[in-house]
Amino acid sequence: MPELRSAQWYAGQDRNSYIHRAWMRRGLPDSALDGRRPQIAIANTASDLTPCNSHLDEVAEHVKRGIWEAGGVPLNLPVVSIGETQVRPTAMLWRNMAAMATEEMLRANPVDGVVLLGGCDKTIPSLLMAAASVDLPAVVVPGGPMLTGTFRGTPLGCGTDVWRLSEEVRAGTLSQAAFLESESSMIRSRGHCNTMGTASTMGLLAEALGTVLPGTAGTPAPDSRLLARSHETGRLIVEMVAADRRPSRVLTAGSFHNAIVALAALGGSTNAVVHLLAIAGRLGVPLTLDDFDRVGADVPLLVDLQPAGKYLMEDLYRAGGLAAVLREVADLLDPDAIDVTGRPFVASLAEAQIWDRDVIRGREKPVLPQAGIAVLRGNLAPAGAIIKPAAASPHLLRHRGRAVVFDSVEDFHARIDAPDLDVDANSVLVLRGCGPRGYPGMPEVANMPLPRKLLQAGVRDMVRVCDGRMSGTAYGTVVLHVAPEAAAGGPLDRVRDGDWIVLDVDNRRLTVDVPDDELAAREPSAALRAALARPSRGWQKLYVDTVLGAEVGADLDFLVGSSGDAVSRESH
Ligand code: FES
Repeated sequence: MPELRSAQWYAGQDRNSYIHRAWMRRGLPDSALDGRRPQIAIANTASDLTPCNSHLDEVAEHVKRGIWEAGGVPLNLPVVSIGETQVRPTAMLWRNMAAMATEEMLRANPVDGVVLLGGCDKTIPSLLMAAASVDLPAVVVPGGPMLTGTFRGTPLGCGTDVWRLSEEVRAGTLSQAAFLESESSMIRSRGHCNTMGTASTMGLLAEALGTVLPGTAGTPAPDSRLLARSHETGRLIVEMVAADRRPSRVLTAGSFHNAIVALAALGGSTNAVVHLLAIAGRLGVPLTLDDFDRVGADVPLLVDLQPAGKYLMEDLYRAGGLAAVLREVADLLDPDAIDVTGRPFVASLAEAQIWDRDVIRGREKPVLPQAGIAVLRGNLAPAGAIIKPAAASPHLLRHRGRAVVFDSVEDFHARIDAPDLDVDANSVLVLRGCGPRGYPGMPEVANMPLPRKLLQAGVRDMVRVCDGRMSGTAYGTVVLHVAPEAAAGGPLDRVRDGDWIVLDVDNRRLTVDVPDDELAAREPSAALRAALARPSRGWQKLYVDTVLGAEVGADLDFLVGSSGDAVSRESH
């Protein structure tokens, strides 16, 4: 075992080491604090207010067993936890705060390595950002998806079916009573959302990045195999400390390449783009928005999961899981990228098999020949915008329509169902003021519900354009993350009702048919300025003053990079 960081607290005979040891004893044996046993934090996002993670205390107990068994000392460290469905104004506003708080607590404490327990959307990204910046040996245990619930004999995809059923109510094809009846069937068990939404995507991508014990991600939360893997992860982190295997060694450009291939093959959430960019930014890995298109565009979609497809996460697991998917595209992966075991990640795929070829398709018969994220540019998005073609309607991927502009979410809700709203199926719905700085926090509002009168006429998709995000559980022809955002002076701020907007996904273009000089000369929207948040203190002020654009991951400008694990001066 190398010289341990925690020895700077515990080894020694002086007054300070006495204090550090004495207050920690409380039943620990002397050997636990002799400066020779790795002190392993379990960064635990269990919280009753993050219901998708509420089972992580039990997971932590099994991680602890493995740590003790391998000669380490486990230490539960509750960290900031963000419940996607509960917090306002949007969970994304708090991702960077959670990352900063976790990073600082890991650095401030006598810790040699960390096991990261996450699940709900923002928790794994914030934990990985923190681990990257403190650069202590780190391994993730994804909390896993919930089991499949059913309503009236039909499987329910959580998130996705909320959007679908609520649109059915608005269209008049489902009663309000039936809609409410489905509520109690939606969440069947512990665990996070069971579609290929953001939580599922980030758990699986954490493994593709190499930060999870291979074969763990995607294990359903109630499955006893998750607890066994947690135990093994506890053993692994002690070995990682001994080998000095840190995020800066595991998370290379090759790891991010692999994550982008996995994102495409899985048909994962668009939210992965901002999270991967932010994690890479903490490590100094030169990942750009265009890499998602360059690496992912020609990767086939191999998984038929909601929101775009049919099945749910429990089906993916029984069909062979992530390893079976990635084995199909192993030739596209970086052979040199390692994982937390120190071995090449691709080596972990060797034995994988597909057990249900309806859920996981073979390379020769993909769901779509090309998946991935398309990165769009043009005079409406000079710094980029993204769209997930696999979740869009093919006939809308090349489209020209007149803009119907909304200056805030409230403006949208107030007018979208008005009978006299000047909108038809060809229109392009534009929602602005929803970027990182504008809302603030970049909420998942881009998948705007369609106007009631068009729903009733049978329209089920329209082109939508927004500087915000879209829930990973949503679908539709939605252009997201338009950058620069309107609140930062992006051209979206100067679009007007009736302007012609052109979407051309094949040619990666998003433009407004207004001459550049005329667009630049227009006054910014007064209604948007009036709607923007102007926090005067606290985290929200810090966030609005320092947040970067979506095109680089929406981290705070001063959090990009790493401060390492240097031990600071004494407290007394
Ligand atoms: Fe937690 Fe979906 S709300 S994962």
